[in-house]
Amino acid sequence: MKSRFVVEGLAGHKKLRGTIAVKGAKNAALKALAATVLFEDTVPFENLPDIEDVKRMQELLAGLLAPSEVEGPVLKKDIAERLRASIVLTGPTLARYGTVTFPFPGGCVLGERPIDLFLEGFRAMGATVKEQDDLFVISGSSTSLGAGKLRGAKIFFPSVSVTATETLMLAAVLADGQTMLQNAAMEPEIGALIEYLNLCGADIAGAGTPTITINGTGGTLLRAQGRAYITPPDRIETGSFVILAALAGDEVTITDCEPRHVDALLVLMRRAGVTVEVGNNFITIKQGPTLLKSVSVRTHEYPGFPTDLQAPMAVFLTQCQGEATILETIFDGRFRYADDLVRMGATITVMNPHKILIKGPTPLTRKELESPDLRGGLAYLIAATVAEGTSTIDNAYLIDRGYEHIEERLQKLGLNIQREEV
Ligand code: EPU
Repeated sequence: MKSRFVVEGLAGHKKLRGTIAVKGAKNAALKALAATVLFEDTVPFENLPDIEDVKRMQELLAGLLAPSEVEGPVLKKDIAERLRASIVLTGPTLARYGTVTFPFPGGCVLGERPIDLFLEGFRAMGATVKEQDDLFVISGSSTSLGAGKLRGAKIFFPSVSVTATETLMLAAVLADGQTMLQNAAMEPEIGALIEYLNLCGADIAGAGTPTITINGTGGTLLRAQGRAYITPPDRIETGSFVILAALAGDEVTITDCEPRHVDALLVLMRRAGVTVEVGNNFITIKQGPTLLKSVSVRTHEYPGFPTDLQAPMAVFLTQCQGEATILETIFDGRFRYADDLVRMGATITVMNPHKILIKGPTPLTRKELESPDLRGGLAYLIAATVAEGTSTIDNAYLIDRGYEHIEERLQKLGLNIQREEV
């Protein structure tokens, strides 16, 4: 059954009040789940978000070694085609079992999302890549350790990729020898994973820097020995709540978060005139001036402004005084929300696939909407909250992929939001 959200807008009034706790990070949990393949024993998880993508990853893991017509572990096509993070499983699976078969990964449609960096990395580690009937079959070569193993390699990424960094890092953990990943991603979710893997027997240096060095165990599996992986707070959820509170909050405190992970956003919020108070693990947004000022944004790899906050930020800018541009430097298809915001009353010009211009402030009015993707879906929730009238957002699944029971949590801030089965 499909569901949708129904949101009674606040017509620009700032009425939300209270606290909202941030859940565990989707893009950390999914990779840590993939990493469990490297372990001899069970990995306990804490703060795992109750979201659809986590369920899909658990299904992929469960199906990995189920009997199949193809020899060796296979990532189920129907599930892998639903989430990009499925590809991260290929690294540890190849490292442990010497082979892996998988389809081209799916996930949000954000423009081109190739996998060349993964394939080149696997090849550098001595693996062979074959394409058969829409599936990739990767096999490790023979090293001194025996058939199907990977060997350490020096890999320079021509462009920064979060999942390619994670996948090749996980592949390298069990490899023979040292792997050096250069121009690696620096996202905090990667650092959290490194910290945990090192506690359990891995030898990885360089977390949070562009050079990650992994000394392979030569095949020895990792051991959790009861130690839990504690999922760090979701910084995209944190940032989305900051934006929601800035537009519709009287006084809202976002708890259980890591404020320094959203510095790139907070700096712009303050520049726009939002009243932000930051504590150790909370952020409070108070009603500030009635008119906020436009600020231009350029997405960038961490620690820059996250592309995953780009759509919520666009909604924010529709309510600010002046003109601002958003330059999207990571993806080339991430403005699919613009038409819908224009239908709601926003003034947005799409200059090219990487740049939009927003003029504000413009009141927004109710519309029937459908989530374009996971982060865009949340941006629509924010737009519907700001708007006058009652909006609907179809395809709630896309929001449920990444945000745990969002309607219940927003209701507690005083928003009239309901889930309806359709
Ligand atoms: N790229 C290549 N070749 C590759 C891999 C990537 O050219 O082999 C390019 C991409 O086309 C893109 C750029 O590199 O232009 C960066 O993409 P990246 O690989 O970093 O993105 P990703 O790993 O597929 C992760 C998150 C995304 C987030 C991006 C950027 C996961 C599962 N997904 O994607 O999160 O937007 O990093 O920070 O970690 C989301 O959670 O909704 C989401 C889309």
